[in-house]
Amino acid sequence: MKEFTISVPVTELSYDELNESERELVETAREATKRAYAPYSHFNVGAAIRLDNGVTVPGSNQENAAFPSGTCAERSACYYAHARYPEAKFEAIAVAAVGTDGRELDEPASPCGACRQALMEYEHLAGHPVPVYMAGKDKVYRLPSVASLLPFVFEEF
Ligand code: THU
Repeated sequence: MKEFTISVPVTELSYDELNESERELVETAREATKRAYAPYSHFNVGAAIRLDNGVTVPGSNQENAAFPSGTCAERSACYYAHARYPEAKFEAIAVAAVGTDGRELDEPASPCGACRQALMEYEHLAGHPVPVYMAGKDKVYRLPSVASLLPFVFEEF
């Protein structure tokens, strides 16, 4: 028998510690929360994906009366980014969320499992690690890659 542990390197940063492009990305995700369509959960999520062509694509969750038909902010962003700019590689991703009380979450917003799986595909296409910024009210977690968020990713069939 063999046991092993998989650990995730996380850098916790205050907003002031972000450089200009990191701030821009986080702000784009925060702005995108305002365009969420979440009449059922009242939980507004925003995502931003910086591409290597200089464009930053925002996304927000879009809900639907047929609940499973809705989609998360991260997936609306990554699918649109690749549909619009199929040649562009992902450079960085940010996520932010506003809770049902209308305030940004204290704890950094964390992409759901399905979004991690979807984002992995684009990290793969990028051919390099794509850092993920999870924004909270006063702190941001930076993870070095989507892969670090999803050990044992499904990649082959
Ligand atoms: N949601 C996202 O947009 N991203 C996530 O990673 C987690 C959940 C959305 C889906 C739904 O519209 C609402 O948040 C509540 O689950």
